[in-house]
Amino acid sequence: MRVLGIETSCDDTGVALLEADGEFGFASPKRAAKAGADFNFKIRGNALSSQTALGLQYGGVFPAMAKREHAKNLVPMLESAMGQAGVLAEKYGNISLHLPLLKKTLEREPELLAQLVPFLERHERPAIDALAVTVGPGLEPCLWVGVNFARAISAAWDVPIVAVNHMEGHIVMSMMNMKESQERSNILQNVRTFGTLAEFEYPILALLISGGNTQLVLSKEPLQYEVVGKTRDDAVGEAFDKVARMLELPYPGGPEISRLALEARSSKLEADFKLPRPMLNEDHFDFSFSGLKTAVLRLVENKTVSDDTKKQIAREFEDAVADVLVGKTLRAVEEYGANAVILGGGVSANKHMRSELDRRLKAEGCELLVCPPEFSTDNGLMIALAGYFHALKKEFAAPETLSANGSLRLE
Ligand code: KG4
Repeated sequence: MRVLGIETSCDDTGVALLEADGEFGFASPKRAAKAGADFNFKIRGNALSSQTALGLQYGGVFPAMAKREHAKNLVPMLESAMGQAGVLAEKYGNISLHLPLLKKTLEREPELLAQLVPFLERHERPAIDALAVTVGPGLEPCLWVGVNFARAISAAWDVPIVAVNHMEGHIVMSMMNMKESQERSNILQNVRTFGTLAEFEYPILALLISGGNTQLVLSKEPLQYEVVGKTRDDAVGEAFDKVARMLELPYPGGPEISRLALEARSSKLEADFKLPRPMLNEDHFDFSFSGLKTAVLRLVENKTVSDDTKKQIAREFEDAVADVLVGKTLRAVEEYGANAVILGGGVSANKHMRSELDRRLKAEGCELLVCPPEFSTDNGLMIALAGYFHALKKEFAAPETLSANGSLRLE
């Protein structure tokens, strides 16, 4: 099955073409409890356009601006992913596009329509079996561009659509066991990377940490989720970004904080102050990061902060966040008898967090599943992958009623 994944929930425009076979043993209760290597994945095309440079210039993501960028980037990303896959063929002969329907579907995205129509007119319908598009959670104006784009392509090519929850995309992405392609250097360059599904046994937990979300999710069987903990205020990535701004570091702040923290650790620079570990010992799995952020504000307000102090703050802040996330995840592992923990979302690129979680889980005999850093931030592949699993179960959405939901939950 070939699935085209479309991601526009925040500031990354991702389009990817996944070729996959294999399935969970849904028919057999025994096998359903075990994921395995019965899957084969080929990444045929993967195109991503990030707005980080714009974010840097303006100090954050602005929905209206991000929406315009998605509208501008979607067709080039589609062309790139399909081009890499070698599934685009020039069209000769009559054009049979249903223009009024396309115009209606994209009436709110005139710029996208202006690019998509000539693209569709130029190419034959490619051999793809399903579209997968992020419908939430995320920035609603951005999500809508992707949703309307998917509806338009679905109408033009007559392909079914799977509505994907972005958070499930992060979860399944970390289940993928990537192998570098042996064929990268030979003629079959369009088959870039292979993968299978990691071997693990349910129940599993997923710690999802990104700029917009912080959740601890329990999964007792494939594609079933229960959110057992979430942030009561800021998301972890948001806290990283806000603390970075207080330290006058560029956007996005997460990688900057982690760079300074690393410098502090390697030069043995310790903080002579302690930041709080919010909710670490409370009897639930929710999180709170706004108090931690305020504690940093108290340290820096109305002061000139030296470079060394910035490094100390970065190190202590990263330690505090890691202590809370790792501590609570380990308690949840024990409570729910989880056999593996998935770490997903943009903040999972944080090396300190990864190694702390890995070290502590190993000591408990529990496995950590993470994806390579280049796939831990938002991308089209994770959406295609989640879409594939739902397409196997024929869980397709009706294009006419498909809608975006900025606060979509994972349950
Ligand atoms: O998942 P993501 O790409 O976008 C969404 O929020 O959906 O996550 C972006 C977040 C940003 O807040 C960024 O600062 C943070 O991930 N981030 C990091 C690191 N790399 C990215 N935070 C801490 N350490 C990092 N190395």
